[in-house]
Amino acid sequence: MKGVILAGGLGKRLEPLTRITNKHLLPIYNRPMIYYPIQALVEAGITEILVVTGGTHAGEFLRLLGNGQEFGLKHLDYTYQRGEGGIAEALSLAEHFAKRDKLVVILGDNIMEKSIRPVVERFAAQSAGARLLLKEVDDPWRFGVAELRNGEVVSIEEKPAHPKSNYIVTGIYMYDAQVFDIIKTLQPSARGELEITDVNNAYLRQRQLAYDILQGWWTDAGLPETLYRATTLVRERELKHQQATQQEPVTA
Ligand code: DAU
Repeated sequence: MKGVILAGGLGKRLEPLTRITNKHLLPIYNRPMIYYPIQALVEAGITEILVVTGGTHAGEFLRLLGNGQEFGLKHLDYTYQRGEGGIAEALSLAEHFAKRDKLVVILGDNIMEKSIRPVVERFAAQSAGARLLLKEVDDPWRFGVAELRNGEVVSIEEKPAHPKSNYIVTGIYMYDAQVFDIIKTLQPSARGELEITDVNNAYLRQRQLAYDILQGWWTDAGLPETLYRATTLVRERELKHQQATQQEPVTA
């Protein structure tokens, strides 16, 4: 199993913060945003990781991350997406890297509380297809929304005006090698992007789409409000962790 982090795009919804840097290099509490998806993959036992980046500040990723020593990695792979052709287009750049292995893909602006290792293990045991992580939210219209019937996903709509449920598709996707054949069949959406929702619907039509509900909190960080929320949630988690691991003061 290999990991891919999608950190391309222009981060326009965070202007002017993204005018002179890449969105995924902005701070979430005490670390740059890109650290969190890398950490999530490493915690799930994935050590072969590709970072897809883009825009005018791509070189900074190399300066920041190097070969990933800080995460216990020996090597990191990088590739470059020109423009902002969509999440599925960014993922298509991972085909050479994947070499037909299964992939865990994380959007570079997705931050979650808990380890995804149990879900990655379930996907490893899955013979073929895709696996998504859904989450119940209060503002589903901002996301890909899953319609559920009798516990099964029956459709996924990208940013619908009238969401059919509160369960959204988080930016943690697991795919087998078919994903690259599917992406080659896609047409750009009305916003000019190759949509990851169209990839997921293609798996759904083939009845090859499994899902889990993501445990713990989850947020994206692509808007001023969610960037702030991510910082608050990570800070609370860090402080809790510090308190839990703090040694009792030594008394004479
Ligand atoms: O966060 C989950 C949501 O992410 C899903 O529920 C949606 O179905 C999915 O379309 C996506 O929605 P967003 O509108 O939030 O995606 P955004 O354009 O903000 O891109 C999210 C990340 O994907 C971004 O941080 C980097 C990567 N990306 C995006 C684009 C458009 C790329 O690498 N290249 C791209 O061209």
